[in-house]
Amino acid sequence: MTGASKGIGRAIAVVLKSAGYQVIGTSRNPESIQNKIEGVSYLPLDLMDEASIEECRAQAGPVDILINNAGGSSLWPAAEGPLAKVRDLFQLDLFGPIKLIQGVLPDMMRRRTGFILNIGSMAGRFAVPYQSAYSSAKFALAGFTWSLRNEVKSFGIQVVLLDPGDIRTSIEPTVHFRPDSGFQTDMSRFIRNREVRMAEGSDPAVVGKKVLKILRAEDPRPFYTVGGGAPAMAFFKRFLSDRFIEKQIKKSVGLK
Ligand SMILES: NC(=O)c1ccc[n+]([C@@H]2O[C@H](COP(=O)([O-])OP(=O)(O)OC[C@H]3O[C@@H](n4cnc5c(N)ncnc54)[C@H](OP(=O)(O)O)[C@@H]3O)[C@@H](O)[C@H]2O)c1
Repeated sequence: MTGASKGIGRAIAVVLKSAGYQVIGTSRNPESIQNKIEGVSYLPLDLMDEASIEECRAQAGPVDILINNAGGSSLWPAAEGPLAKVRDLFQLDLFGPIKLIQGVLPDMMRRRTGFILNIGSMAGRFAVPYQSAYSSAKFALAGFTWSLRNEVKSFGIQVVLLDPGDIRTSIEPTVHFRPDSGFQTDMSRFIRNREVRMAEGSDPAVVGKKVLKILRAEDPRPFYTVGGGAPAMAFFKRFLSDRFIEKQIKKSVGLK
């Protein structure tokens, strides 16, 4: 269970621990975790560092369920985001999780059992303005999840993506904002709107409960949604035109 120190990851760890699972949670700095969950063991993991990913996998030993939750987000105009920052976010939200998955899969395949649950985002279903790096990394994670799912199913391994809507956590996007930017007005509006949306988001506990339900499903689907109005958004997306959806997205993030 990556990123168990706070937010959604901590909430998932709480639910799984109380349901009787043996939970190993990760943090870049486990010693600094304020409110550790009793009975959960913590390992260091920095997804920005391949050696740390390998070390964490080795320390964890055989894993029955891998939950790729740790991640971050971005906030900058697509036209101005430095490529280094885009790459960093892809490392955190896509390449790091892929490396971890590749680390645990050989053992799962040998044992012909396993469950990989990736935490995506509704931003990986509806591209969000000013969050192009985050949205594109989460779209890519969805694609990776679906490809992998159909490669390892015959080994008895389940692969699922869970997309939360807005969830009330302290997630802080990496911001890149040039004072001379032509996008200043729209981006300021977006930032104000985001603060309101996050404050009104769902309790992270709903994600924990959903994860437990997915892990207990007899034949889990490839994709799930949870919280922040995400299930309704996913449902209506099937019937609405791209043009209509685009207008609604702009409106919902405070853009004209
Ligand atoms: N909050 C939302 O509205 C929302 C919506 C949709 C999807 N999500 C997704 O849900 C996941 C968790 O988000 P959250 O809101 O709970 O965020 P959060 O409260 O900021 O927690 C992020 C977690 O990721 C870990 N982390 C950060 N950088 C890391 C790194 N370089 N290497 C390893 N671990 C790292 C943090 O652990 P340490 O700081 O202890 O290392 C922390 O436990 C993310 O994948 C996010 O994209 C969130």
